[in-house]
Amino acid sequence: MKTNTTQAISTDHILRCVHCGIAQATADRMFRCHKCSELLEVVYPEWEHSDREFGLRLREIWRERRGSTLPEDASGVWRFRELLPHVESQHVVTMAEGNTPLIHLTSAARTTGVTRLLVKHQGLNPTGSFKDTGISMAISMARAEGFEFVCCASTGNTSASVAAYAARAGMKSIVLLPAAQVASGKLAQAIEYGAHVLQLNTDFDGCLKVLHEVVRNFPAYLLNSLNPYRLEGQKTVAFEIMEQLDWRVPDHVIVPGGNLANGSALGKGFQELHSLGLIAKLPRISIIQAAGANPLVRTMREKAGKELVRVSAETRATAIRIGNPASWRKAVNVLESTGGQVEDVTENEIADAKSELGAEGVGCEPASAATLAGLKKLVRANFVKSDETVVLVLTGHMLKDVDYMLASGVKRVIGPMAADAATVISTLERIHGQR
Ligand code: F0G
Repeated sequence: MKTNTTQAISTDHILRCVHCGIAQATADRMFRCHKCSELLEVVYPEWEHSDREFGLRLREIWRERRGSTLPEDASGVWRFRELLPHVESQHVVTMAEGNTPLIHLTSAARTTGVTRLLVKHQGLNPTGSFKDTGISMAISMARAEGFEFVCCASTGNTSASVAAYAARAGMKSIVLLPAAQVASGKLAQAIEYGAHVLQLNTDFDGCLKVLHEVVRNFPAYLLNSLNPYRLEGQKTVAFEIMEQLDWRVPDHVIVPGGNLANGSALGKGFQELHSLGLIAKLPRISIIQAAGANPLVRTMREKAGKELVRVSAETRATAIRIGNPASWRKAVNVLESTGGQVEDVTENEIADAKSELGAEGVGCEPASAATLAGLKKLVRANFVKSDETVVLVLTGHMLKDVDYMLASGVKRVIGPMAADAATVISTLERIHGQR
């Protein structure tokens, strides 16, 4: 079945600087403000003239599309295309990204005391992380502009996603990775999907710096989250959460923070639903960092969000091992406008939270588990109350970083032992104390 694909309103957009507020119709390949070099965001001037009816119609259009087999309707990004930049159908690169489950936690609800505790599992995207929603959007823009090469610097997940979507689009991908600092599952994905994988002797922040220079002199389209179109794809997670909660706004949504685009995108999604009248209030959006990679925490505590405090990052949650986050201003705006908190959590707190999630059948990568660890701190600080609804955004699949799990869980494996049933049974009885 196909649904009507006519746009309910024009999705013509402009780009606006998040710092000086100047609007520009186009961006150069660095996606920076022409005037002050800060990041840009996508805004839709025509929405100001939309009426309340528009919001209500959108809910219906989006619901109808769920039964459609049209690739754009089957996508958890493009299904919401009225709130995205317009891209001609033939340029859309999609693999039914988004569409991820919202799962109730039971055991973690008991241990945290928060009875309505859910996870939005973005690790169940096509390449195993939330990046796919943003890459689907931004690579479609690249294809519409006729680029042959796309590129990114990455702690691993962006590179996996860029490589896969480039392969789908028949484009070539270049990924710069910090040597020996990327989880093996992610590295293997980039290789398998056919990217040019370049490992640099630096960290993520160093890779991004080099990439800026490369893009100035090499005709590749930048797919890092400096690219504001990435955030347009990623903001759709807010739309999905609202549909899945039957449009009842949760009190809190908690995300891990690295380069700080994801928290920013989530906030943008909720803010747009709010300004279009689809929701009556905003959830508080909180961002959790690893204690060894906590520039946003320090920026808020030491500089009241006015000036970035860069850190030299170190954490085993390699996805968020970032000390100089590009989207810090956007993240500060989201914290301030939604009344969220920023927290950092130790390596042990992340590991414990990850095991706790795993023990109730919900796998994720270490960076994602920082959300549960952060929630515990926010509950202790009485910022999150037991009768509130909390959504944790799990950003990556557990199989991305198998080494992390094996390093801590290998002692729980028994054997090698004799390959006979009697030995197996006596071992099981011993474990369960039946003899
Ligand atoms: N969780 C996971 C699993 C990630 O891969 C990332 C970022 C984050 C959280 C943080 O999101 O940067 O938007 O604040 N990974 C990037 C990458 C940097 O290259 O894959 P953020």
